[in-house]
Amino acid sequence: MNPVHPPSPPAKLRAVRGMNDILPEEARKWHRVESVFRRVAELYGYGEVRTPVIEDTALFVRQIGETSDVVEKEMYSFERHGDALTVRPEGTAGAARAFVEHGVASKAPISRWYYLGPMFRGERPAKGRYRQFYQAGCELFGDPGPVCDAEMIELCLRVLRELGIRDLTVHINSLGSGDTRVRYRDALLTHLKPKLAELSEDSQRRLEKNPLRILDSKDPRDRAASETAPSIVDVLDEADRAHFDGVCAALDALGIEYVIDPKLVRGLDYYTRTLFEIKADAADLGAQSTVCGGGRYDEMVESLGGPKTPAIGFAMGLERILVAMGEQPPPEQPASVYLAAFGKGSVPAMLRIASKLRDGGVNCEVDAREAKLKAMLKRAGSSGAAFCVIAGDDELARGVVTVKDLAAHAQEEVRLDDVVEHLVSKAKASPPALSNLPGEVGR
Ligand code: HAM
Repeated sequence: MNPVHPPSPPAKLRAVRGMNDILPEEARKWHRVESVFRRVAELYGYGEVRTPVIEDTALFVRQIGETSDVVEKEMYSFERHGDALTVRPEGTAGAARAFVEHGVASKAPISRWYYLGPMFRGERPAKGRYRQFYQAGCELFGDPGPVCDAEMIELCLRVLRELGIRDLTVHINSLGSGDTRVRYRDALLTHLKPKLAELSEDSQRRLEKNPLRILDSKDPRDRAASETAPSIVDVLDEADRAHFDGVCAALDALGIEYVIDPKLVRGLDYYTRTLFEIKADAADLGAQSTVCGGGRYDEMVESLGGPKTPAIGFAMGLERILVAMGEQPPPEQPASVYLAAFGKGSVPAMLRIASKLRDGGVNCEVDAREAKLKAMLKRAGSSGAAFCVIAGDDELARGVVTVKDLAAHAQEEVRLDDVVEHLVSKAKASPPALSNLPGEVGR
């Protein structure tokens, strides 16, 4: 007979580094952000799009750019059934792919899409920078701007302000289009080539292929070398200049203050013309103060095989928004009912009452764990419920239950037949329960 070895204790499994669990208490705050975002996006005519979290790797490589940090270092890519796939690092490329795949351009001249969901980038985790993070974003196809560019910035500010975030700064720039970008690339190369040896290793390697990325680098050596680099705003051609001026004029008309930041290039290669970022001045965010970023990508749809279609979009980082919001009063919970089944015989009655209360839209919880009355009342008190229904076998035999108003410390006997109606009207009239706050005790 084989000796039986006791199983070795399993290694403790934890969430993957840089990926977070969001427990219900925290998730309530997320719901608030998500619902404000949805409502505001819909105010501007956007409708939700849901695209897969996995796309062909080639989509991101071609659109985000081979020499971007995202593609070079951060993508979660894998092979399955012979396909090279990537868990999306961002939402724009997938949205544009869906736009082309479904021939949307031929159905409507302008499409406004929004999305909410997780994105994945293998970055070095820090506060406000994760490997799985959530974005809320909008993509607008078919409008060449510049008025819609400014309105999009207004949309972002409206979301952030409605969430109570103050001290926001809007940064804008233009990358120009086609020819301007080629001219600027040449001007940048002329400036940076003599400084090649002073650049970071990454930038030395990328210089010829993509000098714009050097302006985006956080490395102090690259920052020093690009300090005196020519400004793209100075080389915009007439049409790009007119577009940029149009964005500024529309922002002025909306009363939105902004900073023109000629060094703003953003880390994704698909951008053309307008770029923008919104920074929140929240101490807790440190270097991760950019809560929202976006811009035009007038060439993407065509490069994916669709018709020439101008487009602009943005995405905001939900974790960063939550940090910038700081501590806020917990969202209100509706008044709820705790049903304490005191004695086995009362369980079926409590289940029926609970089911009918829920039919009437009242939150409730059945406690069918055997316990002494005192312990049950203690649990009811700490549950955050506004009312507690107690029924022992003898009360039920008399066709009544006891309803306790937990805040007022009052109680009354109510006929079993009337209790649902009684509680539905009480719960609706009563202010929301104070709790469901963290730190429940005795449960
Ligand atoms: P992005 O600048 O890469 O742009 O990301 C947008 C926002 O997502 C950032 O401003 C930040 O708030 C958040 N974010 C990015 N990476 C992380 C991370 N590792 N951890 C936490 N939050 C993060 C885009 O993704 C573009 N697709 C935006 C866009 C839409 N452009 C045009 N349309």
